[in-house]
This record gives sequence, structure tokens and C-alpha cells, in this order.
Amino acid sequence: MRRFGVRLLGIVLAVPVHLVEHPLVHDALSILRDSTTGPELFRRIAVRISLLLAAEATRDLPAPAVTVSTPLGPAAGRRVSGDVVVVPVLRAGLGMLDAVLQLIPTARVGHIGLQRDELTAVASRYYSKLPGALGGSFVLMIDPMLATGGSAVAALDMLREAGAVGVRMICIVSAPEGIALVEQHHPDVHIYTPAIDQGLNANKFIVPGLGDFGDRLYGTQ
Ligand code: PRP
Ligand code: URA
Repeated sequence: MRRFGVRLLGIVLAVPVHLVEHPLVHDALSILRDSTTGPELFRRIAVRISLLLAAEATRDLPAPAVTVSTPLGPAAGRRVSGDVVVVPVLRAGLGMLDAVLQLIPTARVGHIGLQRDELTAVASRYYSKLPGALGGSFVLMIDPMLATGGSAVAALDMLREAGAVGVRMICIVSAPEGIALVEQHHPDVHIYTPAIDQGLNANKFIVPGLGDFGDRLYGTQ
């Protein structure tokens, strides 16, 4: 992890951003960005990139030492232990959920439904169902796009109210504005992302970004 300086309105903010540089992540990201990629391929590549990003975000998952018996004798190993909670932000975050559950099948799943107003880009909440007792859990919030940061901050507020601490957030594309807003409201949250793009356009879409992730995932453009 490195503290990443994001310049916004002349201020440099130090936020815990983990910039994922793996070539397979960037190969997948280029396919997602390509405007000719249709929903079927987009969904498949969303799973692939999410697997890789989730592996990065869970590097320090507790995994105590164990001994297992191979057919030839005892072998030292490690098994992941502890409670993991993954929280997709609907709807686009659902495209990342199967990937995380492939890696951590025992994870509990919370859902947060947020929708940005098309004109104002202000996020409003329409659904929430979180598992109980989040205090000691390893909590991973998944939302592919961090644009203004309004949705992320609203979701992180809900997780904090539910008792979550040390939340990690995975996003596929981020804007400096969104990172700055998360830093302002939730400076303890670690962000895992492969891309911090130039910024937002007049409609608060990330530029160059990849367009509307949910619409491209579900073919609803
Ligand atoms: C998208 C995305 C984020 C949000 C990011 O969701 O999945 O949740 O926008 O934008 P922000 O940082 O400016 O809040 P959207 O509200 O479009 O809903 P969807 O997932 O149902 O398509
Ligand atoms: N939501 C998206 O899906 N894309 C953006 O660029 C911004 C918000």
C-alpha cells in the first residue's frame, strides 16, 4: 500500500489507495473500457478482474498455520479463518460478487441498494440488508465505479452505523473526486483499484472511464 496523493481543488490528500498494477488486471480493464465489448463478454471480464482485485484486497486475510496430511505425510500449511463479509453496492456491484464468493465461499453477504439520480448524480438508498455483528469481520465493499464518491460514502456510512471497521473497498475505475470524498468522510477505508482516471465530465461520468457499468453489464442502455 502507498499513501496516494490526490490533488483536488489545489489540495493534496493522502489516502490509502492500493493501485493494482498486475498486467492481467489491466488487460481485463482495457476490454471493459472498449465500447465494442457487449454484455456477455463484459460480464465475463467483470468476473475475471474482480477475482484478481479481490485476491489483492485479501492479501492480509487471517490464515493461521495448520498441518494437513498429504498421502505421503504431514505438511505445514495455512487455512483462511475468521468472518468475511462482502457487500456489493447494487446494482453494478452484483457483477463482482460471484468472483469474491469463488475465492471466499464461506463469506456472508450484505446488500446495499443505491441509485444515482441521472441529473444531479446524488445517490439515494432503496435497499439495505446487512449481516449482524460486523464488528470483528473482514468487510469488503464492492462497487465497480467510484465517480463523485456519493454512493461510496453513503454505503460506507451504512456499514459504519452497522459496526464495520477497517472496511476495504474494491472499485474497477476511480475518479480523483471520489477518492477525495471517501478520504474526507472515511479516511480509514482502504481503496483497491487499478485505475484513477482524469476526472468527471459535466454529467458526473468518469472520463475516460468505461461508461455506465450497470447498463453495460445488464444491457440496459
Ligand atoms: C453507479 C456505480 C456506483 C455509482 C458511482 O451506480 O455502480 O454505485 O454509480 O457514482 P458516484 O460515485 O457518483 O456515486 P448507479 O447509481 O448508476 O446504479 P446502478 O449500479 O444500478 O447502475
Ligand atoms: N457510474 C457509472 O457506471 N459510470 C460512471 O462513469 C459514473 C458512475
